[in-house]
Amino acid sequence: MSDFVVSARKYRPQTFDTVVGQKSITTTLKNAIKNDHLAQAFLFAGSRGVGKTTTARILAKTINCFDRTESIEACDKCESCESFNSGSSLNVFELDAASNNSVEDIRSLIDQVRVGPQLGTHKVYIIDEVHMLSSNAFNAFLKTLEEPPKHAIFILATTEKHKIIPTILSRCQIFNFNRIKVSDISNHLAYIAKEENVEAESNALHVIAQKADGALRDALSIYDQIVTFSGNSITYAGVIENLNILDYDYYFRIIDATQQEDIPKSLLLLNDVMTKGFDGHSFLVGLSDHYRNLLVCKDARTSSLLEVSDEVEKKFIEQSKAIDANQIIRALGVLSQADVNYKQSKNQRLLVEMALMQLCSIKQELEKKKA
Ligand SMILES: Nc1ncnc2c1ncn2[C@@H]1O[C@H](COP(=O)(O)OP(=O)(O)OP(=O)(O)O)[C@@H](O)[C@H]1O
Ligand SMILES: [Mg+2]
Ligand SMILES: [Zn+2]
Repeated sequence: MSDFVVSARKYRPQTFDTVVGQKSITTTLKNAIKNDHLAQAFLFAGSRGVGKTTTARILAKTINCFDRTESIEACDKCESCESFNSGSSLNVFELDAASNNSVEDIRSLIDQVRVGPQLGTHKVYIIDEVHMLSSNAFNAFLKTLEEPPKHAIFILATTEKHKIIPTILSRCQIFNFNRIKVSDISNHLAYIAKEENVEAESNALHVIAQKADGALRDALSIYDQIVTFSGNSITYAGVIENLNILDYDYYFRIIDATQQEDIPKSLLLLNDVMTKGFDGHSFLVGLSDHYRNLLVCKDARTSSLLEVSDEVEKKFIEQSKAIDANQIIRALGVLSQADVNYKQSKNQRLLVEMALMQLCSIKQELEKKKA
């Protein structure tokens, strides 16, 4: 057996400060520990793989640590920390409500809750996907949640906060976990690549981060998949091939062509894209994104909305200088119309081609209007 451990497990943060992109939550929790003002019931809400379980475990470890550091982190050396790190601590209890959602499951949890900790001060009960509990189970749980024994802390986690009944919400301190920013994800990936002696192009990590759509766990599994595929060197070309993503260079070239009002060139580029197996609709969506990026980098105030690597950012800024905002807005209108019509169209390729022809004539059209 090989000793390969997936990155999501190997790099699960062990301290509050190493949790990526949830600073306000970790700071609030640290302050609460410091001031001995910790709530007994929390609701951690947020999408998949953004650090809810991770933070819950860190909280459990930190409040039980016998020798917390000045910055309110667990010492990682004391008896309690060691039992946490080896996975043998009895002070953290995780229940997956997706598969254990009956009244009996909750009853046996409630029975457990009465028993105090043998080591340390608190027992932490993490109930994952709590919205899946049956309503009977919820009711059985309410009383315990309202008057828990002093040593018990409940952390309810959910990806679907709107499914939690108000009586539960009102008894919990609620933390909304953010989706993680593309730049934070790609920095984190760069850190891991360095630890693992993997050479990685920053463009390549950015594409992975974008694909993960805010979920760090997803980013790490995509990263693992790419490493398996391409070994110790991750390149932009390798990543887009593996993830079947269209090279952004095509969009730059197509927009150059439309600026030159060169219809044949833009149609030939589209042909290349389709020959590579990309469908017309994802091309329309990608091209709209590209125009949107051009628009946001025209103004310093919105340039932070551009989520690309530094190298690509330069290219966007350069291209945006050559095209004015009115043209971009008009182009977005053309593309959104094409998007709306795409599904019903009998000849989808022609529809995309016509959109490109329209894009090529925007400049003229606007100039005529001015005259
Ligand atoms: N904010 C984060 N900072 C650092 N690593 C993270 C973060 N969020 C997720 N991860 C990585 O993803 C893995 C899974 O995270 P975690 O179990 O905390 O997600 P979750 O929010 O509980 O997701 P789910 O809703 O699917 O239970 C972690 O082991 C860690 O490697
Ligand atoms: Mg979880
Ligand atoms: Zn400790």
